[in-house]
Amino acid sequence: MKNLILLGYMASGKSFIGKKLAKRISYNFIDLDAYVEKKEQKTVKQLFDEKGELYFRKAEKKYLATLLSRDEKVVIALGGGTPCYYDTMDELVNNRAVETLYLKVSIKEIIKRVTKETAKRPLIAHLVTEEALVEFVSKHLFERSYFYNKAHYVIDANQPADIILEDIVAKLF
Ligand code: S3P
Repeated sequence: MKNLILLGYMASGKSFIGKKLAKRISYNFIDLDAYVEKKEQKTVKQLFDEKGELYFRKAEKKYLATLLSRDEKVVIALGGGTPCYYDTMDELVNNRAVETLYLKVSIKEIIKRVTKETAKRPLIAHLVTEEALVEFVSKHLFERSYFYNKAHYVIDANQPADIILEDIVAKLF
């Protein structure tokens, strides 16, 4: 079997679904953001604020490579931006030990999910009105879709979690 990598925009359910998927197939689950935070001894927000976004992008790339170099096969939830920097998406798609799954969620659903928790998300923390949030997310998601759509599998993640899970299992096994 291969490493299973879940990717997609902020609040697309990567960690939530990733945990359930890992449990279902008896794999360990790793949340890349949490892994970076543990290794760096700082929260993602602190890393952005204190060291800058570029430092964070390099760190997530480095730790993802570490995880993929291990023998153990795992389910990994990436950060929303991980596949969009430094050729990461092409490298993942061409890695024979990896299956990539894009959890695709509509803009409307993303807005609904992130509205109450913008503060802990450095990229959208400054957006105070719903209008500004919609404008930013629409443009950002459009730009990032170029990378996300390269994934081996595109999963409709607007659906309830149990259906998403069945969809993934049906596609992979
Ligand atoms: C980011 C998404 C976040 C986190 C960081 C940057 C992004 O992860 O990595 O705040 O660039 O979209 P989640 O997608 O898990 O929220």
